[in-house]
Amino acid sequence: MCGIIGRVGDGDAIDTLLTGLENLEYRGYDSAGVAVQNGAGIKVQKRSGKVQELKNSINGAPLEGRVGIGHTRWSTHGPPTDENAHPHTDSTADVAVVHNGIIENYATLKTQLREQGHEFTSDTDTEVIPHLIQQYLDEDMENEAAFRRAIERLEGSYAVAVMFSGEHVIYAARQGSPLVVGIEDDEFFLASDVPAFLEYTDSVVYLEDGDVAIVEPDGVEFTDLDGNAIVREPETVDWDPEQAGKGEYDHFMLKEIYEQPTSLSQAIEGRIDPETGSIDLDGFPAGTFEGVDSVQFVACGTSYHAALYGSLTLTQAGVQSTALLANEYSVSAPPVDENTLVIAVTQSGETADTLSALRKASENGAQTVTVTNVVGSTASREADDTLLIRAGPEIGVAATKTFSSQAVMLTLLGQRITADVRGEESVGDLSPLLSDLERMPDQIESVLERSAAREIAEEYDGSQSYFFIGRGLGFPVALEGALKFKEITYEHAEGFASGELKHGPLALVTPDTPVFAVFTGVEDEKTLKNAEEAQTRGAPVIAVCPEGHPATDIADAHLEIPEADSDLAGLLANVQLQLVSYYAADLLDRPIDKPRNLAKSVTVE
Ligand code: M6R
Repeated sequence: MCGIIGRVGDGDAIDTLLTGLENLEYRGYDSAGVAVQNGAGIKVQKRSGKVQELKNSINGAPLEGRVGIGHTRWSTHGPPTDENAHPHTDSTADVAVVHNGIIENYATLKTQLREQGHEFTSDTDTEVIPHLIQQYLDEDMENEAAFRRAIERLEGSYAVAVMFSGEHVIYAARQGSPLVVGIEDDEFFLASDVPAFLEYTDSVVYLEDGDVAIVEPDGVEFTDLDGNAIVREPETVDWDPEQAGKGEYDHFMLKEIYEQPTSLSQAIEGRIDPETGSIDLDGFPAGTFEGVDSVQFVACGTSYHAALYGSLTLTQAGVQSTALLANEYSVSAPPVDENTLVIAVTQSGETADTLSALRKASENGAQTVTVTNVVGSTASREADDTLLIRAGPEIGVAATKTFSSQAVMLTLLGQRITADVRGEESVGDLSPLLSDLERMPDQIESVLERSAAREIAEEYDGSQSYFFIGRGLGFPVALEGALKFKEITYEHAEGFASGELKHGPLALVTPDTPVFAVFTGVEDEKTLKNAEEAQTRGAPVIAVCPEGHPATDIADAHLEIPEADSDLAGLLANVQLQLVSYYAADLLDRPIDKPRNLAKSVTVE
């Protein structure tokens, strides 16, 4: 997974390319590079490290050109060196290529090209592309034909953008990795994701697998790989550039934590009516899931925790449901048939593991739904139906606001599924739940205003390990609390079902292992007992619960949450845990928005 940017228009491209790369850095930050087209041919500049390294190098040797492509990399083939950074060129430097994805047959292609005399300078799979193109140019093909012919030879997944020396054109193709075109009067953009060029245009075309886009100074031509014209209409995105920027916050993650009241309001707007107790999910009318007898959720990471949350609410309502790690699905998928509903939960809609599970479920005849934040994403296009969580752009690699929106939307979708499985119009009186849901944005606001997370992060800074426990819907929140903590602090953290602590993990508990206990109002007395068991072994207990809760009598510290429906209390607790992780990572001076070795969207299996 990497970020691609391209720009064609009047004036200089370099600032637009660098800004685009900075906006895409969440997709990978191992190296960055640009290629621009000027009178003297193609000029490439690339550096290992973050975009800032590239900018520093360009400041010393300015680049100019009206047309350019750029790339920010998350390494798959070869370490993050200058040589492995994109763009890659052929040996004559007449063809420059940036690529996101994996070329599965690159080793075969590389061997063939070597035999034909091509010399390679990087370890990447990508470098075969400019050499393949060069091979066809040497056979007297025109640029476009050579591009198409080379793309046809690729197996695997790719979003590719190519420039030829002497031509103010970018050729792009998509298969399995995202690519969007931005259109603004006489300026055109190409990128892996919309935030790359959002400050210039909100008019975008989402390319589909098999599409080719030829971006020229006077317009964009869309074709299939054989060159047949296709129609791709621009859509207007309603994310504003300010939303995608950091604003007054030090980090995107903190901004996105603080955006949760807004993102949740957006998620539920027009979809719930607490007075009548009705839920109206666009595209999911009563009866949508008639005939469904079981539900499987597939997802990874934070989205898996949201999926587990959604699955548990269904199980509690009596619907047969399970949440599965998408990366395990290929080897351990339970049987499915046309009465199975498989729900892919994925913020980006591009996670390769989740796409693979979704495809397997479809092939085996299941009904499929994608719950995602990204309009036009691959998962959304491949599933039978899509439910958008409407969280707005999330740039921090650590998922925060998308988790709460996913969990809430899955809770609402769960009501529709339960009613349909039971053959009822709706599930009992939903007014109390929906009223609580309507109050949630304000409740999160009050958590954000009054949180003691910073003090608690300071108090327990330097501990050996951090444990998170919860029961029922508190369990996925405990898992998520631990994932967030380890992801951005690099400290050891684990989440457990509260009752599981005594079955092994208790051996790890010492006075140096704070235990965060999440209370959701369901069997809290048992969770409290489990917390006390840890405390008896010397561990400090931080209770995440409402004021006056019995846990506050024994706890060493308290993170307060408002009283809420037990289906939603865990999400308020999660906001507190997000803040603890954030402040703990900040104390350690970690690169919070770009934790080491990670990237926002993982497009390899
Ligand atoms: O885009 P997705 O929701 O499919 O991503 C899945 C995981 O890679 C993601 O949730 C990851 O675990 C988070 N960045 C963790 O904060």
